[in-house]
Amino acid sequence: MTEPIFEIKDPPEGGRVCVVGAGFMGCVIATLYAYHGYDVVLCDKEQSLLDSFVERARPITATFGQGAARIDEILSNVATEPDLGTAVQGAFLVHEAVQEALDVKQDVFAEMDRLCPTDVVLASNTSSLLISDIATRVEHKARVLGIHYITPAHIIPVIEIIHTDFTPPRLVDWGRRFADSIDHVAVACPERPGFLINKIQFAMLTEIHRLMDEGLASRDDIDAAVRLSIGPRLALWGPLLTEDLIVSKQTVLAVTESLYKQTGDENFKGRDALRDLVAAGHMGAMSGQGWYSFQQSNDETVRERDRQLSDLLTWLRERDPVSALKVR
Ligand SMILES: NC(=O)c1ccc[n+]([C@@H]2O[C@H](COP(=O)([O-])OP(=O)(O)OC[C@H]3O[C@@H](n4cnc5c(N)ncnc54)[C@H](O)[C@@H]3O)[C@@H](O)[C@H]2O)c1
Repeated sequence: MTEPIFEIKDPPEGGRVCVVGAGFMGCVIATLYAYHGYDVVLCDKEQSLLDSFVERARPITATFGQGAARIDEILSNVATEPDLGTAVQGAFLVHEAVQEALDVKQDVFAEMDRLCPTDVVLASNTSSLLISDIATRVEHKARVLGIHYITPAHIIPVIEIIHTDFTPPRLVDWGRRFADSIDHVAVACPERPGFLINKIQFAMLTEIHRLMDEGLASRDDIDAAVRLSIGPRLALWGPLLTEDLIVSKQTVLAVTESLYKQTGDENFKGRDALRDLVAAGHMGAMSGQGWYSFQQSNDETVRERDRQLSDLLTWLRERDPVSALKVR
């Protein structure tokens, strides 16, 4: 299982982070770390990508937080270095963001492992590969984890902390503290296809692609349906609290069973966790308990729910974000 000897130090304020790969993501991640005061070394085997870093990072820096006012100071926190052995010197974290190819990442991780003292955390930004596959040739596996950003990484405030059978729980906690230090929220998940976010996102996207394939709904109707119904609710509360707030668990179970009966699709089968809530009478806000416990009466909860939803929908209608993007 895990190596007991691995010492995990707190992410040191202003400490050095090495980002390996100065492509699309590496450029954004390096900028984000520099914005939050880390001393960043950005490494790429292509000198041209290192040379173009400042030019590519300027517009990124200008679009978040206080970035526009601090561009020169932030970018001065990033040094560029083509040699990996030099780039990792003094780093407490080496974050790999090379292209999504298993053999390339395996080579880079074997090198990172060889070059870095054993108390340096080695992270991958992989979107889809298993961390344990990437770390196949790593000797000190207990310091390896996934730190996966969601595009645009400097603005979307969530990172997935992906752990494996060989990741000590303390390293996941470390990931949460590191996320705090860059003003992001860490969500932990075991390695599995799609991790957490893509697993959920692609369940919806593949269904929508199927609707498009079969010509069952138009592009605009699909987007309007999601944008003006489930979208705002999910943005405010996430899927489980939304479920508690809007519908009885009994109804959710009945709908899943009906969909299963009509389609025979195992994905619609009512799951044990849902059945257990129904059996216990935990129907959601209306019974005071669902996935969450509710501290006030259902009437008060519903009033607050509707106020929040109205505010968000008013904002969306006033801003008209789709028109502002000038698409047809
Ligand atoms: N593009 C996205 O929106 C996105 C989002 C989340 C995660 N990711 C993940 O982030 C990673 C990077 O994606 P990207 O889109 O930035 O890729 P990219 O192709 O833009 O950049 C990869 C960079 O890695 C460099 N590189 C390759 N081998 C190297 C080596 N041995 N040493 C140093 N540098 C090396 C390349 O020269 C290139 O500049 C991938 O794992 C990807 O799946 C991408």
